[in-house]
Amino acid sequence: MNLKKELLRITSKFFDETSNYSSALKEYKQLLFRISNEAINNEEHRNNVQLENGVAIGTLWAANCLDDLKRTLKFIKGIDIAIQEKIHQKDSLHILYAGTGPFASLILPFVLKYADFNITYSFLEINPLSFEILKSTIKKLDLENHNINFINQDATKYQFPKNFSPDIIISETMQRALDSEQQVSVFYNLMRQSNSDTAFIPEKITLAIGTSSYKNDEPSIQQKYYREHHKVFEVSKKALNSGEWLFEKKSNKLGFTEKRTILRKKELSTASEIVVMTEITIYKSEKLFVNDSGLTAPKYIKDISNNKKERLIIESQYVVGSEPKLELKII
Ligand SMILES: C[S@@+](CC[C@H](N)C(=O)[O-])C[C@H]1O[C@@H](n2cnc3c(N)ncnc32)[C@H](O)[C@@H]1O
Repeated sequence: MNLKKELLRITSKFFDETSNYSSALKEYKQLLFRISNEAINNEEHRNNVQLENGVAIGTLWAANCLDDLKRTLKFIKGIDIAIQEKIHQKDSLHILYAGTGPFASLILPFVLKYADFNITYSFLEINPLSFEILKSTIKKLDLENHNINFINQDATKYQFPKNFSPDIIISETMQRALDSEQQVSVFYNLMRQSNSDTAFIPEKITLAIGTSSYKNDEPSIQQKYYREHHKVFEVSKKALNSGEWLFEKKSNKLGFTEKRTILRKKELSTASEIVVMTEITIYKSEKLFVNDSGLTAPKYIKDISNNKKERLIIESQYVVGSEPKLELKII
């Protein structure tokens, strides 16, 4: 079988509005796993890598991100909008993909779709096992002559070489509520070295204090049960340049302002739980709202169904370090 032709056949469906997207995404995953010879199922491929700024997930888990269908489809659509915008402004493009996993699955469709354009790709991945599979996948797909650079480094520390100037940076190194993984530090390190017109995908991520009004034991995924009360943290170019992101030169550390949220009687009367809600603008119109994806699943914080207090005060602050998270204190 000609793997490159097969990849083109499957990934073309992502850009055809008449397609059954979920079956195309399943075929895509099957093809990539077949190319890796299932080596990816070994025990060692399940190991996460603990780094100074959080965790880099194991090869198998990174490959399985493809199962989050809505996430994958919306990222692919968002990336396409960004490429189309930029490609009409410039003769050549440079796309940096930080945290490719073993398959660079969010960008492979474009390597073929835009094969006639002058696009350079830089694939940055820290997990050595994922990195090896990535290189062999590109080789087996016969994509080696498509201007792809491979960089096996930590994206939270990577320093751009001279004349390295990406037009688009893609990184999906996150979990819901921006827990554990390194999205914030990756964004910070790469964007502060970029130009003002560099697009970052996802364009904006927000964390909000919310409540759920669902009263059963089983958690519900229905959006109607969740209410957002106060946005307390944002990852975006605008936020980076606001006074809310603070870089302390002395300690070489990134910090963020503390937020205070007050939930009053009216809001508490129907609430059963306090949750952290994540919302993602991938690019322009492509967005993920509560429970659209594993990345936007609400994070349970506290049962307040028996609350007797007139009001609750929630102090929150995002922290980076080996265990990045939104730290919360309920008073
Ligand atoms: C959530 S997976 C996403 C995989 C794939 N990009 C996708 O979206 O389907 C994140 C990937 O980023 C890598 N990663 C996490 N932190 C990183 C860092 N600081 N530098 C480079 N790669 C990182 C992980 O090893 C993992 O392969």
